[in-house]
Amino acid sequence: MKICRNMIKMKDSVFLVMFLWILTVSRGDTEVSCVFMERCILPCSFQVADQINIRWHSITRDFNVHSFYYNQDQLRSQHQIYRDRTSLFKDQISTGNASLQLTGVTVQDEGIYQCYISTVNAPQISLTNLTVYAPVQDVNIQQVENRITCRSEGIYPQPELTWSTTPPSNINLLNSTTVQQNEQQLYSISSSLILSPNDTDLLYSCTISTPTNRRRAAWRKLTPISGSTSETIITCAASNFSFSHLLWRFNHSQMILNQSRTDGRSTISEEWRQQVKDVSESGDITLQDLSSEQEGIYTCQLSNAEEMLISDTSVKISGGSSVNVGGIIVAVIAAVLVAAAVGLFLFCKKKKGQQENNTI
Ligand SMILES: *[C@@H]1O[C@H](CO)[C@@H](O)[C@H](O)[C@H]1NC(C)=O
Ligand SMILES: *[C@@H]1O[C@H](CO)[C@@H](O)[C@H](O)[C@H]1NC(C)=O
Ligand SMILES: *[C@@H]1O[C@H](CO)[C@@H](O)[C@H](O)[C@H]1NC(C)=O
Ligand SMILES: *[C@@H]1O[C@H](CO)[C@@H](O)[C@H](O)[C@H]1NC(C)=O
Ligand SMILES: *[C@@H]1O[C@H](CO)[C@@H](O)[C@H](O)[C@H]1NC(C)=O
Ligand SMILES: *[C@@H]1O[C@H](CO)[C@@H](O)[C@H](O)[C@H]1NC(C)=O
Ligand SMILES: *[C@@H]1O[C@H](CO)[C@@H](O)[C@H](O)[C@H]1NC(C)=O
Repeated sequence: MKICRNMIKMKDSVFLVMFLWILTVSRGDTEVSCVFMERCILPCSFQVADQINIRWHSITRDFNVHSFYYNQDQLRSQHQIYRDRTSLFKDQISTGNASLQLTGVTVQDEGIYQCYISTVNAPQISLTNLTVYAPVQDVNIQQVENRITCRSEGIYPQPELTWSTTPPSNINLLNSTTVQQNEQQLYSISSSLILSPNDTDLLYSCTISTPTNRRRAAWRKLTPISGSTSETIITCAASNFSFSHLLWRFNHSQMILNQSRTDGRSTISEEWRQQVKDVSESGDITLQDLSSEQEGIYTCQLSNAEEMLISDTSVKISGGSSVNVGGIIVAVIAAVLVAAAVGLFLFCKKKKGQQENNTI
């Protein structure tokens, strides 16, 4: 046994290769999935003995990641890309915990990491397969003229984008989805489609997904309405959608109202304070005193952690009471004219009848 132990000590490297081979072939790797730019722990535990020497090494990049011996960190040979990003749990090394904490994880950090421990006993090796993901966050859907564009960015691994409509209909894809990767290897994705002429009340949904998560954004144009100077209700028509955030905008830019359903707080912009009368449970907004300057597109945006629903309603201002009076006058005149015409017709008919009677 003693001879064996000496051999192991002397021929560390030979055994290292053998160990690696066994570990790789047996696929005993630990899988660790880390979120882009967050911190991540690469696990490693060992049997405690004297003269602990810990070496973390990136097999994929062949870089020294972190070393620890003589009871302290030894970072002279650490590769610079790991500088100030690695640490061991010092207080737990004595209990056999050699796990490595890596902060600010990047896509380039993906790969196989080896934890090599030598003590007075045989070396102990474990491998960790580190993968990185950057989940889909905000999906932006925007309508400009007759096309809608859906895009998102900062995603890893490569996302997929799909369009659908409710109810189902033929989608006119403008061009295929474009995917780009930035210098941090994160993906951005974008896709456009042409609106069908009969697009009113058709819901266009864009879903962007990776193996770890998905987000959906949907857009639709509701039936145009005419507003009045008295009271106008613009609907969000989302009885089926449970949302945590509501945003009303005018002409795609001006914010009217911003409401959080989680803390119940809402903000009404200064310019719209006079007009906003009420907001219903389902997000419908009641406006008052609208003038012709408030004619345009009203956008209701509902969102929760996974989904966003945008509804555009075009509002024409019908001019309110003054036009209503005008309307009444027109109606009265029309009624008088019709009555006169009918009267004339009956009068003529009667006259004609009399004449016919006379001839018989
Ligand atoms: C090592 O310690 C850290 C910090 O307490 C802990 O998160 C990790 O799970 C431990 N790892 C092992 C292998 O015990
Ligand atoms: C590491 O994990 C990723 C994702 O599960 C996998 O695609 C890759 O093949 C693994 N690498 C090795 C060397 O096992
Ligand atoms: C495809 O769509 C993208 C995004 O809207 C646009 O930048 C690009 O010019 C389009 N390409 C063609 C050939 O239409
Ligand atoms: C638009 O809708 C009308 C009635 O709903 C239908 O008659 C017409 O064929 C539709 N046009 C197209 C291009 O789908
Ligand atoms: C409303 O929700 C139900 C159940 O969640 C679902 O089956 C139905 O398709 C939804 N309807 C619409 C129009 O989204
Ligand atoms: C709406 O309010 C939230 C916080 O409640 C804020 O983060 C967001 O930027 C606001 N949006 C707009 C368009 O003002
Ligand atoms: C809002 O947009 C409409 C057209 O969509 C335009 O006629 C109107 O002038 C715009 N109003 C303001 C205040 O920008």
